[in-house]
Amino acid sequence: MKVLGIESSCDETGVAVYDTEAGLLAHCLHSQIDLHAAYGGVVPELASRDHIRRLPVLMKQVLAQAGLENRDVDAVAYTSGPGLAGALLVGASVAESFALARGIPALPVHHLEGHLLSPLLSADPPQFPFVALLVSGGHTQLMRVRGVGDYALLGESVDDAAGEAFDKTAKLLGLGYPGGPQLARLAGQGVAGRFRLPRPMLHSGDLDFSFSGLKTAVLNVVSAPDWDPAGMADLAAEFQQAVVEVLCAKALAALKKTGLKTLVVAGGVGANLHLRQTLDAALQQRGGRVHYPEPALCTDNGAMIAFAGAMRLGAGEAVSGEPSVRIRPRWPLAELKPPQAAVA
Ligand code: KG4
Ligand code: ZN
Repeated sequence: MKVLGIESSCDETGVAVYDTEAGLLAHCLHSQIDLHAAYGGVVPELASRDHIRRLPVLMKQVLAQAGLENRDVDAVAYTSGPGLAGALLVGASVAESFALARGIPALPVHHLEGHLLSPLLSADPPQFPFVALLVSGGHTQLMRVRGVGDYALLGESVDDAAGEAFDKTAKLLGLGYPGGPQLARLAGQGVAGRFRLPRPMLHSGDLDFSFSGLKTAVLNVVSAPDWDPAGMADLAAEFQQAVVEVLCAKALAALKKTGLKTLVVAGGVGANLHLRQTLDAALQQRGGRVHYPEPALCTDNGAMIAFAGAMRLGAGEAVSGEPSVRIRPRWPLAELKPPQAAVA
């Protein structure tokens, strides 16, 4: 079965084709970074308009790359939520229209399920069950994953997501958009420990996170009368160290609590090198292992949506015969259920 995947939840337009027998056949991505850079953040209306412009082109491109025609596609999977309502509507409308015209099923997919399953697309995939650390611009969550759709929330951020904290802190340090990668680059040139930032909720005794106070602590440092911008790289390094320390400690606590040894890290912040090195070293020491998506599939992409859709359809998930544009801008991941077959 060949599944066309469409991702348009935020500022990346992603399209891919996943074949349940041959694996990922092709994937194409357009990032809107240049479009939003002047505004210092994503402008929802501009994002929606750009998805409209890019999607038809990317769909043609991805099918050509895979050596397929429209008629070769067996099903369409699209990001139904969570995300920006207007942006989601574009992908959902295109996907449902394509499916209706071709007489094939269209399956709404949860964006975070796409991220969470994306390491299964790698050459050496993890086995269920595992603990997943989802760290993106909008979410920071620890989940116990027993199989597709069997997700139990262990803990999450009570305020800003880790990626959001990186982006907001980068902004107040005067770095460009998107802030996460730029702040990480600057941190690589500095030394942690010269400034001392808090490790929020490190000893809270649960698996929740809080990152908004960290941004305020950085603001306090740079607003002090004796602040010297020459210390910027050291401050960035300390900020990154604080986030990584908390993420790592809570991920280890989640593994201990569940008795599992496999950790899967997904979402944009999973691209952070310091986080990877710290988690790899900690798990190696404990006889466990960390799995990441392929680098190109760390941030938003169509491949993870095509794959999540293919996993569900392959497991016999029933698809509504009625064409309807289904979006859920807010959609808790723990609400998902394993693939449900049609009731006879
Ligand atoms: O998963 P993603 O592409 O989009 C969402 O679904 O949110 O994640 C984007 C987030 C942004 O906040 C971005 O700044 C952050 O991931 N990010 C990073 C790095 N690369 C991307 N944060 C820290 N270090 C990085 N290297
Ligand atoms: Zn994402």
